[in-house]
Amino acid sequence: MDIDGKILRPHGPTASGRVREYHLGRKRRMFQITTFCPDKIGPGPTHVYLIEDEALILVDTGLPTDIAKNIFYYWRNQHIPPEIESLPADYSEQELLSGLKLAGHNVEDIDFLVITHGHPDHYLLGRRIVGLSGAKVAAHVSDSHQICNPWGIVKLWVERRPALMAMGMPPPRQGGRTQPTMKPETTDLSLRIDCPIAFDGRLSLNGFEKDNVCVRHYAGHSPGGISILLYDDDGREAVMLCGDTLLYPITPHPDDLVAYLRTLKNMKRLENVALVLPAHGKAISRLRERLDFLEKHHEHRLRLTYEACKNPHSIWQIATMPRYFDVVVDPAKFNPLAGQEAFVHVELLQLAGALHRSHVDGGVHYFLNSGEKFEDVYERVQNIVDEEDTTILLRR
Ligand SMILES: [Fe+2]
Ligand SMILES: [Fe+2]
Repeated sequence: MDIDGKILRPHGPTASGRVREYHLGRKRRMFQITTFCPDKIGPGPTHVYLIEDEALILVDTGLPTDIAKNIFYYWRNQHIPPEIESLPADYSEQELLSGLKLAGHNVEDIDFLVITHGHPDHYLLGRRIVGLSGAKVAAHVSDSHQICNPWGIVKLWVERRPALMAMGMPPPRQGGRTQPTMKPETTDLSLRIDCPIAFDGRLSLNGFEKDNVCVRHYAGHSPGGISILLYDDDGREAVMLCGDTLLYPITPHPDDLVAYLRTLKNMKRLENVALVLPAHGKAISRLRERLDFLEKHHEHRLRLTYEACKNPHSIWQIATMPRYFDVVVDPAKFNPLAGQEAFVHVELLQLAGALHRSHVDGGVHYFLNSGEKFEDVYERVQNIVDEEDTTILLRR
């Protein structure tokens, strides 16, 4: 199995634009094309993958650069660095198109576009790619509410905001220093899903179906997250394209921590995965080690969350505690992902009966722990995660 690949083009000043070639067995090749997405304030450049097989398959598309500026900076009223502000609106699109050329293909050659999950940095350039190529789109049905919805972005914006305020997060300041180029309510970048993915097994794309191209549903980072397993010629070893379900060195933010911890547990059953290629950051060559690390990481965050609530704490107070995150989270800034990360830990501890809401003050909710030893609480958390039928009627 080709673990290191070969760099065809190094990355540029925005840490994106790189093209890497991998060999999947004797005949098939795959290319990793890295496209611009902000780091520090975002997850960093998005890797998309081009699989050469009997069909040409693009996995994810990245994010249009004008949308990146709007989502990460204007709509959150964050300072936009001049080097990002000056990027052309189609910067990431050009990185992708020139990367395809370097791989020996034109965008029109793409037969299928497979979306790993319905987050903006993975599918929002899809409409443009479908327009240029006529590619058929495949995605898991559990993320269709986001991917197919013309109001998907503004829906998130409208529905999440009251919850973020209840967490105690300061509201975004009104009137940023620069003007947005588009409004979320009029930005329709939805896609039609031509090949819905509902079950694990061979990836079925309008007639393209092979034993060595498989799909698995791994919820938790988003409801409809999928991983694609590409087996070598003998079917012995696989490369796994996991979207954001596993990342390295950063850790993915769970949308649902119970589902995510179950996914980590289920992934331990995977055998013969030689290489995991995530959608951001570095490759993972030791899958089991990364799964163990991520489990410990969430155990640690559950402990910090539980212990903080010895005295009433809001979710935003937890998120901005020193050392809760590896990076400093500015308590005065609007940071939805940091709030969401602390929230899912509070949610799971509540489900385990270890936290309860002590009071609401000014619309902000405060939580208090049960006073037990964390070890006893964590045992209950593990039971919830292990016994999949325990939560089926209680949640969602
Ligand atoms: Fe992502
Ligand atoms: Fe994501």
